[in-house]
Amino acid sequence: MGLLDDKKRARIFYRYFSKFYDLINPIFYSIEMRKAVVDMAKISLRDVVLEVGCGTGYTTEEIVSRAGKLVAVDITPEQMVKAVRKFPDVEFIRGDAENLPFKDESFDATISAGSIEYWPNPLKGIREMVRVTKKGGRVVILAPRKPENAIARAFASMMMLFPSTQQMILWMEKAGLKDIRYIETGPYSFWKKLVVIASGIKR
Ligand SMILES: C[S@@+](CC[C@H](N)C(=O)[O-])C[C@H]1O[C@@H](n2cnc3c(N)ncnc32)[C@H](O)[C@@H]1O
Repeated sequence: MGLLDDKKRARIFYRYFSKFYDLINPIFYSIEMRKAVVDMAKISLRDVVLEVGCGTGYTTEEIVSRAGKLVAVDITPEQMVKAVRKFPDVEFIRGDAENLPFKDESFDATISAGSIEYWPNPLKGIREMVRVTKKGGRVVILAPRKPENAIARAFASMMMLFPSTQQMILWMEKAGLKDIRYIETGPYSFWKKLVVIASGIKR
């Protein structure tokens, strides 16, 4: 386990990091990347969508204009309070990805970008996303990929979870998703495979 894939430590980290988050996040996560995340969910204006680990609302901004209704969950109030100010029409709920406070099959699609790396039990979190998604609905997850460089990989794994693309696919299959698709992408030409965005359909 890395330093930050512990719920309490992640919450404390984000309580302080939240102050700079909106300045730093777009360096690693571009507008094109967040568009790709939402494109893979194939949502329409009739859909009720859940976002897990919404943070200050960077991905929320892309989802909100393309969904009928958006519900967003995050474990850190200091992060979510910023999103609440930006999006008055979104329903924000404090909650844990690994115990989502919703009934089975409540949403047409479920999206999470850049949060799974902090979940101590990622498979449990993915299973929760699948549970609350309707049959035939899509689950989309963006995760930072395990770095290819050995030194970067050692440093990354000390901090938090950086799954391989293969690991993401395996978890999504185990969680009950079919037709798994993925892209590996990044914000710059020298960082083309920083993240994996994976989607699957609930059986
Ligand atoms: C890197 S930020 C990503 C925020 C956002 N999705 C975006 O597009 O910028 C990660 C977020 O995941 C949240 N998080 C971490 N562990 C969580 C958990 N177990 N349940 C819900 N949210 C969690 C953190 O509070 C933080 O706001």
